[in-house]
Amino acid sequence: MDLSIEIAGIRFKNPLLPAAGPLTGDDSKIEYIASLGVGGIVTKTISSKPAKVPRPCIVATRDYVINAELWSEYGPERWIDEFLPKIRDIKLPKIISIGYTREQIEWLIPGLEDFADAFEISTHYVGKDIAPIAEVVNVATKITKRPVFMKLSPHMPDPVEFARAVTDAGAAGVVAINSLGPVYHIESKVGRSPLGSKDGYGWISGPVIKPVALSIVRRIKQALDIPVIGVGGIKDADDVVDFLEVGASAVGMLSSALIFGKEQYKRIINGLEDALRRRGYSSVKDAIGNKLSKEEAKYEVRNPVIDMEKCTLCKLCEYVCPYFAIRVSDHVEVNSDACFGCGLCESRCPTGAISGVLV
Ligand SMILES: Cc1cc2nc3c(=O)[nH]c(=O)nc-3n(C[C@H](O)[C@H](O)[C@H](O)COP(=O)(O)O)c2cc1C
Repeated sequence: MDLSIEIAGIRFKNPLLPAAGPLTGDDSKIEYIASLGVGGIVTKTISSKPAKVPRPCIVATRDYVINAELWSEYGPERWIDEFLPKIRDIKLPKIISIGYTREQIEWLIPGLEDFADAFEISTHYVGKDIAPIAEVVNVATKITKRPVFMKLSPHMPDPVEFARAVTDAGAAGVVAINSLGPVYHIESKVGRSPLGSKDGYGWISGPVIKPVALSIVRRIKQALDIPVIGVGGIKDADDVVDFLEVGASAVGMLSSALIFGKEQYKRIINGLEDALRRRGYSSVKDAIGNKLSKEEAKYEVRNPVIDMEKCTLCKLCEYVCPYFAIRVSDHVEVNSDACFGCGLCESRCPTGAISGVLV
């Protein structure tokens, strides 16, 4: 099956990229991640000075990662003299992540240009005015011939306006999304946030942010015909297909590799053909943008239908029903007067015995 995609004239053998972060933080890490079969490389964000990273800087549960990392702990000189020359022979497109201000970008691009197939500009910007970001993109696109992608902070009040402004300023596309924050995590073992950052605040990513990322990618793609690299919460091949369906041309993943292990990249790539085939697609390109049609709100109430062949009488539907409409004994009774048609029972049923509500 053809898993390849093309964005801004660059061909990727498959759509899964490592999102900017510690796993692409120097040449040996990049080499290892490349060996797992990813479609391209996105480096850790390089800025004008090495980051002074507080420690500890990463904690995780099964559902999320919270980090207090900043950008690369290595300065641009180390990247240019040592890391980037060593990964030159890796035959994958290399997207170099850079940050943050207009002055830093202007200073960084000339030294990195030779090693880059494209640039991704990262941002920690949480302001509401898009103009300073658009200006950074404008400056970047004037000094490089490479495509420039702008990474979107989920804090932007209007992602569509953001995407429009940065592509009008010359960006080849957007990368959505960065981690969200500030967030605070209490580790029971220490009774407070374990992060070494000021006051213990960090930024959240991983499976819990996937619906936020999917929504932002979909809203941008419903409004604009521009390339979007979808990032946020991907943990398996089905998640990749979800992002493709809402219009992403490629995807980035980091946190699930931190939660479940780096081999997650390989597992996802190995599972991608199957995941696409199960949804009736015969290539990655086939899947892109298939879930973009706009729909009206619906108000019809549909009651759950129980398949007693599949039901194990586990009672979860009864326990969770917010409208007290289900009773389970040796069979399942649905009180159609009380049932609100909310859909929760069907989405929580562990055996797929409930249908008819979500349709
Ligand atoms: C430990 C860690 C370090 C990160 N470092 C960077 C970075 O240097 N530059 C950047 O643009 N995003 C950085 N991110 C954000 C990720 O690239 C990504 O946008 C975000 O984590 C959402 O994707 P995920 O849920 O697959 O991790 C970092 C995230 C984590 C967890």
